[in-house]
Amino acid sequence: MSIESSYDRWSAIYDTNRNRTRDLDAQVMRTRFGSSRFHRVLELGCGTGKNTGMLSEVARSVQAFDFSEGMLTQARTRVRSANVVFHRRDLSNIPWPVETASAELATFNLILEHIESPNPLFAEAARCLAPGGVLHVSELHPFRQYEGTQARFEDAEGNEVKVAAFTHHVSEFVEAGQRAGMRLVQLKEWWHKEDAGRPPRLLTLDFVK
Ligand SMILES: C[S@@+](CC[C@H](N)C(=O)[O-])C[C@H]1O[C@@H](n2cnc3c(N)ncnc32)[C@H](O)[C@@H]1O
Repeated sequence: MSIESSYDRWSAIYDTNRNRTRDLDAQVMRTRFGSSRFHRVLELGCGTGKNTGMLSEVARSVQAFDFSEGMLTQARTRVRSANVVFHRRDLSNIPWPVETASAELATFNLILEHIESPNPLFAEAARCLAPGGVLHVSELHPFRQYEGTQARFEDAEGNEVKVAAFTHHVSEFVEAGQRAGMRLVQLKEWWHKEDAGRPPRLLTLDFVK
């Protein structure tokens, strides 16, 4: 099954499934950006809008992209703020409909494991960012991928569905940002409160253009 169709199927239960990675990412996003202020934000792979509402509170405008109509339908229902525009788009299709050097924040949350070659997406995000703008990356930590964890859900019949995923090492993310002409300013690892004794669950990186 394609990644897009998998998310169409997952969309109805994405917000209610037990998912510690999703929950941790939401918490980290609020901590990292909840008190910030931006003019324009790009949310790259917005899913059901889990982070879109928070971003709409701290930005004058948000452009939120995703290729799954199912996920976008959930997001449009959940986030009705007038300053958010949702776009159905495969982000591998470059260039994105975004003016060059126009955004202060671009954020990838839990999407890059589904992208085989992230380099062109980093370059495109860098094109869209204004000088001094931030590219935020938040991904399932590769240490967890090495252990066999990947995006998955249980369908209505109780069958486990794994969504096609690619492993990217920490160095790949760092190099992708640097190749796109950005500077790594922060790298952090995060644990859910139920993760004691386990490898980190989430990796975040912030690059500045
Ligand atoms: C795990 S969900 C994360 C959604 C949201 N960012 C969050 O943190 O809850 C991954 C999302 O990436 C989207 N996605 C994956 N590959 C994509 C692509 N090539 N273009 C656009 N969206 C994509 C999926 O449709 C899905 O909504």
